[in-house]
Amino acid sequence: MPSALRLGLLSTARINRRILPAAQASELVEVVAVASRDSARAAGYGKEHGIARAHEGYDALLADPEVDAVYIPLPNSLHVEWTRRALEAGKHVLCEKPLTDEPDDCEALFDLAEREGLVLVEGFMYRHNPQTRRVEELARGGAIGRLQLVRTSFGFPVEGAENIRLDPALDGGSLLDLGTYCVSGARLLAGEPESVFGRRVTGPTGVDDLFTGSLVFPEGVHGLFDCGLRVPFRATLEAVGTEGALFVDDPWLCRRPGIEIRRGDDVERIPVEPADSFRLELEDLARAVAGETEPLLGRDDAIAQARVLSALRRSAVQNIPLRPIAAR
Ligand SMILES: NC(=O)c1ccc[n+]([C@@H]2O[C@H](COP(=O)([O-])OP(=O)(O)OC[C@H]3O[C@@H](n4cnc5c(N)ncnc54)[C@H](OP(=O)(O)O)[C@@H]3O)[C@@H](O)[C@H]2O)c1
Repeated sequence: MPSALRLGLLSTARINRRILPAAQASELVEVVAVASRDSARAAGYGKEHGIARAHEGYDALLADPEVDAVYIPLPNSLHVEWTRRALEAGKHVLCEKPLTDEPDDCEALFDLAEREGLVLVEGFMYRHNPQTRRVEELARGGAIGRLQLVRTSFGFPVEGAENIRLDPALDGGSLLDLGTYCVSGARLLAGEPESVFGRRVTGPTGVDDLFTGSLVFPEGVHGLFDCGLRVPFRATLEAVGTEGALFVDDPWLCRRPGIEIRRGDDVERIPVEPADSFRLELEDLARAVAGETEPLLGRDDAIAQARVLSALRRSAVQNIPLRPIAAR
């Protein structure tokens, strides 16, 4: 067995609490370093979580030769910059979603990774979960007939004025934080949209507290989604075909795995074994770095996702439907 991928955490972000146990449970990944803007915070975090190498500043971690790859859970506005810096420092990168909503930036990052022979992955953990794989198989395999409509949602109430999701300067807002899952899930089942129309409600901090989008895919398949930062928790995926509808409650966090297929009054429940999406995501990265497999989520998916997010954002500002455009 090859030695474990040595992972460094770029910040003490809250989401690390899902990465740390996932790495602990895996033989393929070991968290060896953490960095924080604040040296005392890095040291305290390292001590609390048994991470030997604690760095002041993200550059110091990128200069650490004992680190093979970095996990980037920074505010959205810092994803492109720190992904670029990490690649330039020779590290493989798993960057939290959304990597970016700028297709040109996305292309440039993947060009850089390819030039340097490094793996770059956008962190959509739900894509690694067996529930998502099963949804894709069922919808594509004809379980609901010909696909006509995909409806997705994600929302929860964000607490605390300091939350990065409420800060426009950090690229907060519901579309980038939550709608990005809705778009990803719709694209997974329906392909790439030909046009999109986004509508936003701007909240008191200046971010989109609520965002709704409609997407038109090839062959007349439609997509509808909504996401919000001041709504009660809700997360759903529904794929409607000519023969039935497939429904998933909790399609992104996958904490209550299971799929329902509804055909008239008949409801078929398809059980799915629970799995740790973060562990599967980390192991996918480790296998890609070891050269055993291609990563599940690569260049094409990230660029297509950025195109749709960018078009939705611009559509909401201009109040017109738009075509997602190719990067330059
Ligand atoms: N896949 C998922 O399930 C999932 C879930 C939650 C979040 N996320 C993504 O993960 C990322 C982080 O989310 P989070 O909720 O974990 O965020 P968070 O707890 O606010 O952490 C962000 C970290 O970034 C660092 N940072 C650097 N510059 C900052 C600035 N100007 N303001 C605030 N923090 C700054 C801070 O670490 P230091 O002070 O230690 O440097 C902070 O702890 C986001 O991109 C989010 O979309 C993904």
